Amino acid sequence: MAVEHDWVPQSVDVSVPSAARMYDYLLGGAHNFAVDRELGDKIETVMPHARSAARVNRKFLGRAVRFMMDQGIRQFIDIGSGIPTVSNVHDVAQAEHPECKVVYVDRDPVAVAHSELILYGNDRAGIVHADLRDPDSILRSAEVRRLIDFEQPVGLLMLLLLHWVPDEDDPWKLVRHYRDAVPSGSYLAISHFTLDDVPDYVRLAAEAVNKSGGDKLQNRPKAQVAEMFGDFELAEPGLVRFGEWRPSGPGDISDDPETNTFAYAGVGRKP
Ligand SMILES: C[S@@+](CC[C@H](N)C(=O)[O-])C[C@H]1O[C@@H](n2cnc3c(N)ncnc32)[C@H](O)[C@@H]1O
Repeated sequence: MAVEHDWVPQSVDVSVPSAARMYDYLLGGAHNFAVDRELGDKIETVMPHARSAARVNRKFLGRAVRFMMDQGIRQFIDIGSGIPTVSNVHDVAQAEHPECKVVYVDRDPVAVAHSELILYGNDRAGIVHADLRDPDSILRSAEVRRLIDFEQPVGLLMLLLLHWVPDEDDPWKLVRHYRDAVPSGSYLAISHFTLDDVPDYVRLAAEAVNKSGGDKLQNRPKAQVAEMFGDFELAEPGLVRFGEWRPSGPGDISDDPETNTFAYAGVGRKP
């Protein structure tokens, strides 16, 4: 296997693009390989606003975390957390409330290795190398047991994650498992790719991803994304396009109206 950098874990196949590394590339990060950049460039050719869409999602992450903190949440589990860039959950949370605890989870070895580096010395944050589809390996992990108190409300984040889980793996049942594990007053934030009323070029970009040999992107309509919240009560303004969820500052919502449409976003509270 050709290894480009010394931070690449041995188990990584650098010939197949990964969702984590391609997203890192679109966000301007440095933890990606030629194959990820090639796919990122292909997507940008058909979908020129791909980079700003990625940034709009990161802005939603910041707003969701701050919103949850305003409701008293001080502990977070961020599943499909990705390769840390800027304004990660612990950056946002611990800047305001240093006592906040954060567990990141990702199945991508590069995301995990880089998270370990970033979190070195931060004893209020950790990373679990696990797959969303194996809830026990996450909920019973040493880091979750060390950092999360399930007697207190938890902020769950699954941003740009669930569209990588095919219907046959039943993402609705999986999300329910995590909803059931947290107490009343907990929150769940989701952002999810959609092809509902988007320009045609988004479909072309999704096709490019799905032909790349890496992770496959699942398009889901609004009702199917809404179902993932179960009986959690959606905070205002409900399930909307990611740029439209309580935008409050520069970059929260793109000047290009189409860029704000590629994903649904919402935050729900467990009654
Ligand atoms: C597009 S990135 C999103 C990163 C971050 N959540 C954000 O919104 O900025 C999607 C991440 O989900 C991870 N992922 C995809 N499927 C997963 C699964 N089944 N279990 C855990 N992580 C997964 C990928 O490795 C990748 O890091």
